[in-house]
Amino acid sequence: MIYNLDMSNTQKNDLLEKVTALAKRRGIIYPNSEIYGGIGGFYDYGPVGVEMKNNLKKYWWKEMVDTREDVVGIDGTIITHPKVWEASGHIENFSDEVIECKKCHQRFRLDDIPDGKCPNCGSKEFTEPRSYNILFETEVGVLEDAKTKVYLRGEACQTIYLDFKNVLDSTRMQIPFGIAQIGKAFRNEVTPGRLTFRSREFEQWDMQFFVHPDDMEKWFEYWKEKRMNFYKNLYRKQENLRLKQHPKDKLAFYAKDAYDIEYKTPWGWAENEGIHWRGDYDLTQHSKFSGKDLSYTDPRSGEKYIPWIVETSGGVDRTLLMLLFDAYEEEDLGDGKSRTVLKVHPDIAGYKAAIFPLVSNKEEIVKKAREIFELLSENIKVVWDDRGNIGKRYRYQDEIGTPHCITVDYETLENDTVTVRDRDTMEQERVKIEDLDEYLS
Ligand code: GAP
Repeated sequence: MIYNLDMSNTQKNDLLEKVTALAKRRGIIYPNSEIYGGIGGFYDYGPVGVEMKNNLKKYWWKEMVDTREDVVGIDGTIITHPKVWEASGHIENFSDEVIECKKCHQRFRLDDIPDGKCPNCGSKEFTEPRSYNILFETEVGVLEDAKTKVYLRGEACQTIYLDFKNVLDSTRMQIPFGIAQIGKAFRNEVTPGRLTFRSREFEQWDMQFFVHPDDMEKWFEYWKEKRMNFYKNLYRKQENLRLKQHPKDKLAFYAKDAYDIEYKTPWGWAENEGIHWRGDYDLTQHSKFSGKDLSYTDPRSGEKYIPWIVETSGGVDRTLLMLLFDAYEEEDLGDGKSRTVLKVHPDIAGYKAAIFPLVSNKEEIVKKAREIFELLSENIKVVWDDRGNIGKRYRYQDEIGTPHCITVDYETLENDTVTVRDRDTMEQERVKIEDLDEYLS
């Protein structure tokens, strides 16, 4: 019998600390440049994390591109023509309002102080808010007098607007249709923190759906529901998910409506993805600034118009972090024993199965285990572990969320069966080697 350890409030509050420690200890997320003392807001993914992140991106791509006839993908650059960011409004408006506590001199984003109290020292006295633009700048060109100031993209979606006409001209797509992209975005956040939740370099999964203005309402509703269902399938704890409308006074000036899909993190509800009613703002702006006509002519009716856009824009790193919160469990196994387990969605787990030769000094067992490793790794990601006793190997795989552990033992040599142990129930079953592929899928 397994009991979930009661996550009291104090335990919940340190869930971020526990997940941060586990992520580092087990090769999921490392602080970047750690040997130099680290650099705020930048993180690397370790051997397990990179597999999880790749799986997560594949999972999204399958849902948003592979299984849809009306969405195609692109992969755009991080640096674009600098005028893009004038047209988008980022040079003028992409700023954080920052205030400084007059007592302890810590700086905060204005929207991180909802109760007017300094989170560091409790003082209520702050300086007047000042605006800081959070676009990262760099230069293109090598000669001193021929360098051009450019920006690392502050949001991935702008490249989709830049390629809208190319996609129309080079594919068979007709409105309504979407363009999807997963890619890096950069923001010089004033207060990065909470592991990857607010970082300075991160990845977004974006889809811009181009529609006729008369159909906007219908498609906005459609994508709200569709994206919410995506997260419902991904997370275990449905009560930690909600769809929240932006208050009208917080909307971007061009937006008529916007919703956030939020996940309840250890510090409260937090944005996971935005569903935005962008209207014709983006294509109109880029038409104006580039001088190129970005309107669409309906091949059937001949009607010419600037398409309207429904945007779905989420954070890959943020989703992975929220998945870690969602999956993390500490279980009491009785007799003073406990385990930490990541009950993460099997499609996202870094490894689908771990292969254990029961002993590492018996040649036939190791050989058989290697054959199974080779067989399974044709189709799924598996990991090899022949270190320490089986109990320790289980604990390790539980902590990284491996759904199945396969042990090759003496019985295997007699009847070609292995023990398969389930991560969540910890139950073990004997399975024929020839049935393993099907069993695991
Ligand atoms: N194109 C629209 C756009 O960029 P956003 O709400 O600013 O909208 C979309 O960003 C998503 O990107 C957010 O829901 C969040 O998941 C992720 N995101 C934004 N800023 C982030 C940061 N500093 N660190 C990690 N993820 C971030």
